[in-house]
Amino acid sequence: KGKRAFIAGVADDNGYGWAIAKSLAAAGAEILVGTWVPALNIFESSLRRGKFDASRILPDGSLMEITKVYPLDAVFDTIEDVPEDIKSNKRYAGSSNWTVQEVAESVKKDFGSIDILVHSLANGPEVSKPLLETSRKGYLAALSASSYSYVSLLKHFLPIINPGMHLIQHGSCFIACGSSISLTYIASERIIPGYGGGMSSAKAALESDTRVLAFEAGRKHKIRVNTISAGPLRSRAAKAIGFIDMMIDYSLANAPLQKELSAEEVGNTAAFLASPLASAITGAVIYVDNGLNAMGVGV
Ligand code: NAI
Repeated sequence: KGKRAFIAGVADDNGYGWAIAKSLAAAGAEILVGTWVPALNIFESSLRRGKFDASRILPDGSLMEITKVYPLDAVFDTIEDVPEDIKSNKRYAGSSNWTVQEVAESVKKDFGSIDILVHSLANGPEVSKPLLETSRKGYLAALSASSYSYVSLLKHFLPIINPGMHLIQHGSCFIACGSSISLTYIASERIIPGYGGGMSSAKAALESDTRVLAFEAGRKHKIRVNTISAGPLRSRAAKAIGFIDMMIDYSLANAPLQKELSAEEVGNTAAFLASPLASAITGAVIYVDNGLNAMGVGV
């Protein structure tokens, strides 16, 4: 039986979430996505009108099917957390059941269970400000949208993620099924001027949480938890930060592999991490960046 994946953070065909969906679909998984509520209408109508058809083509020539698109706002855990101004906001009032808890309940009602959970979302309202100029509110908003959103998603989805099974094959023990993946950035551990607003802090939290969650979810449910530290990609979110072309040029000039990183390379790594081929990998930060992280100085 094919696996089922829920990918949070897909709102167009340019980002890592879309590429991960494609690689998982190519490997035979059924795809469910969670789309940020304010971006939902344009994403669904673009899908319907065929705007993404060229990007839906899989290696075997067929088109990726997205079985269901769920509205999601990962900064709210339950409906009680939603303030009045958001509830009555036109873009939010048009959808329902988009808090993390409600989305997990809807997926359970619709499909019963999933095998793979992907978190491919981030938001830092003050990302263009240096950390010294970031407000408390901006900093906490970055952590809420980019780090706690993952803790919350995993917590609410955990009961419906099919637990890993120990499989004995050719005398070796594998853990099959049950895998969770997020996306991080090297600004968590090295200084990347321009990645501000507490976003570097948010990625550091996400990476630390990956280790603690790997322990808790591993012991409790045999679920593996990993994060991919990805190189620069010209996504919608990255363009909003404002320095993405510079980062791509820097990588081209300085990384061991001098080629532009394609989103597909990150998607393929996610498919590997979600597969039994990665059965002993958990709590890890996996670099998919043409090796840039290994450099000590620019050349
Ligand atoms: P993207 O724009 O394709 O994805 C970000 C998504 O987050 C968007 O779909 C947006 O609608 C969604 N989102 C924002 N706030 C949300 C909320 N409260 N609830 C639900 N969804 C929300 O951009 P990208 O770059 O592909 O980002 C995906 C992940 O990859 C992020 O974690 C990002 O930090 C990470 N990443 C990106 C790099 C890049 O150069 N683009 C490099 C390394 C990591």
